[in-house]
Amino acid sequence: MRQIAPEPPAIVRNDVAAIQELYQKHVVPTYARFDVVVSHGAGSYVHDVKGKRYLDLGGGIAVCCLGHASPEITEALVEQSRKIVHISNLYYTEPQGRLAKAIVTALAPGKVFFCNSGAEADEGLFKLTRKFGHDEGRFEIITTVNSFHGRTLAGISATGQEKVKKGFEPMVQGFRHVPYNDLDAMREAISPATAAILIEGIQGEGGVTPATAEYLLGLRKLCDEKKLLLLIDAVQCGHFRTGRFQSFQRILENVSGADGFLPDGIAMAKSLGGGFPMGAFWVREPYQDLLGAGTHGTTFGGTPLACAVALKVIEVIHRDKLADNARTVGEFLKTELERLAVKYPNVIKTVRGMGLLIGFELASGIPAFNASERAPSLQFVNRLHEAGALAVPAGNHVLRLLPPLNLSRREAEEGVEIIASVVAKLAA
Ligand SMILES: Cc1ncc(COP(=O)(O)O)c(C=O)c1O
Repeated sequence: MRQIAPEPPAIVRNDVAAIQELYQKHVVPTYARFDVVVSHGAGSYVHDVKGKRYLDLGGGIAVCCLGHASPEITEALVEQSRKIVHISNLYYTEPQGRLAKAIVTALAPGKVFFCNSGAEADEGLFKLTRKFGHDEGRFEIITTVNSFHGRTLAGISATGQEKVKKGFEPMVQGFRHVPYNDLDAMREAISPATAAILIEGIQGEGGVTPATAEYLLGLRKLCDEKKLLLLIDAVQCGHFRTGRFQSFQRILENVSGADGFLPDGIAMAKSLGGGFPMGAFWVREPYQDLLGAGTHGTTFGGTPLACAVALKVIEVIHRDKLADNARTVGEFLKTELERLAVKYPNVIKTVRGMGLLIGFELASGIPAFNASERAPSLQFVNRLHEAGALAVPAGNHVLRLLPPLNLSRREAEEGVEIIASVVAKLAA
């Protein structure tokens, strides 16, 4: 008998080995993935295909700021997709205009360019710098050691870590690196070709190191003196994660002489879309029209769908006072981790960061770690997985916590308990 409905195609149903095999056979192996096959998430938790639940303290690397499966993000996606998903930047759409206004209002007069990722946001700032310095023959951007600015060719050239460049030389011309939080080194590195300085407000991938207030203020002064753009890569540390919209605002709170501090350009991505991929850069007056018609573009930048979601994310963050939550829950997490560091100095060396961007550095030579295996941070993460939590390594010795901004106090307490259980076993 002829089938009325054709047989559904064979699909993989929550079969760990089969899913991993699909990756091994068909996915370019640029990531050394953890042995967790995720099925779905809800709020601050994710579930693997075997049914195990994890508290997600990694938040998709600072992306899932409203947690997983946020009904409000879903609603915004559905509502906007019923109207229009994409039309291109040949036309005006209301969500893009409104989102640009929201970002400008949160910062200062200027304009916003929308793109799709952090690397692309940084790339926009690189091109802005080239335009800015072009007529004077200036093109160089000084960045910092241990920085991270994305995986494009210019991004790895800008990044101050050798490991991302290896095998891809020659690098794009015009990037130099000096130690972070070292104003003298920055001053000495400036050449007649220098056009901009680019730093992260808090170095994320490089190990969760915040800029000092003196550094930020000193860089602003230096840039004014030498007519350089001061650019901040806020892809990871921005979007209310530290308790303020931007980490530099948090770092400069109550610091005398910091009133009116502003960089000239800011790269954003990650939490901007709460999981919907998008990036953006803001550029301050009077540089906001340097990139004129035809000088830069991207097909998917600022689609009505992406912008509708990002507007909803900002609305929920304000309505639910999630910046304040990031501040208080982050403070709790950090204090508890510091307590653990005091109790177990042979396991946790230091705790750094602010708000819900926290790093803890592992002590060297933890005997329980297998020296011939993967880096200590990866071995720690594997143990956390066993204990029921996700976190993200930053380099070989630092663990990063970048959970949803709506992580509750109770969930944070659970996170501390899970981390403490791993730490106690390592100390035993
Ligand atoms: C500070 C910083 N800049 C840029 C990037 C690159 O962002 P994306 O992976 O979205 O290209 C990242 C990603 O981790 C980042 O942390």
